[in-house]
Amino acid sequence: MNIVLLGPPGAGKGTQAQRLGRALQLQHLSSGDVLRAERASGTELGRQVAAIMDAGALVPDPVIVEVMLARVLSLPEEFKGVLLDGFPRTLGQARSLDEALEKAGRKIDGVVLLKVPDEVIVERISGRLSCPQCGAIYHEKVQPPRVAGKCDRDGAALVHRPDDRPEVVRERLAAYHQQTAPLADYYRGRGVLAEVPGDQPIEKVEEQLLAIGQSIIKKASS
Ligand code: AP5
Repeated sequence: MNIVLLGPPGAGKGTQAQRLGRALQLQHLSSGDVLRAERASGTELGRQVAAIMDAGALVPDPVIVEVMLARVLSLPEEFKGVLLDGFPRTLGQARSLDEALEKAGRKIDGVVLLKVPDEVIVERISGRLSCPQCGAIYHEKVQPPRVAGKCDRDGAALVHRPDDRPEVVRERLAAYHQQTAPLADYYRGRGVLAEVPGDQPIEKVEEQLLAIGQSIIKKASS
């Protein structure tokens, strides 16, 4: 089972993927989290991608494809499949993923596009707080932590991501519209795309995503 969550920066992919992954027993694989973990560990890859991420640009396809395919193809047994968040985000990445899955006798079973207007995204990202240790996502107003500034799960001090500055968000949105938005047509053409309005309360979005996720799983197993 391989499901992709598509959408602009700040659409709520991470928020929803954490919930959906648990509900559907899918391994949540976030390319952004993978790269941030590499940076936090000070690896060569982390050093290589730091400036690119902080500028709001996409890291080169060969780099991210290698990193993500290794994870997609080594699925731990306790999961029924993967829920991809942030990968693929160019046509080149989507084609590489299709080829690798086909070789492994797998395929993309469903893709869900979370649609959110740019102006909503800017407000959401400006209020986002993230846990640098476990990746939990909060919002100062919409989804505040129980204790101000501390992660509910592990008590770590919450941070604003360095790429959440308004000027970087503009770059990330431009990269999305130029390089990632065309993936909707790519997957629509393969008959696997569903769309959900992401500009609704978190629980409403979750309800709709869960129903779509369950129908993708049902279809794939029939
Ligand atoms: P990445 O971490 O993937 O960032 P992104 O795609 O820009 O997505 P975000 O994490 O910003 O947002 P999200 O959609 O997960 O929203 P969230 O749930 O946090 O990538 C970072 C960088 O890594 C890239 O810029 C690039 O450099 C590099 N990279 C990663 N993948 C790559 C790839 N494949 N190729 C090349 N480069 C790559 O929600 C946002 C906020 O809104 C939160 O505060 C949340 O609480 C709130 N919120 C969520 N849902 C709602 C709702 N329904 N209503 C109100 N508020 C909400």
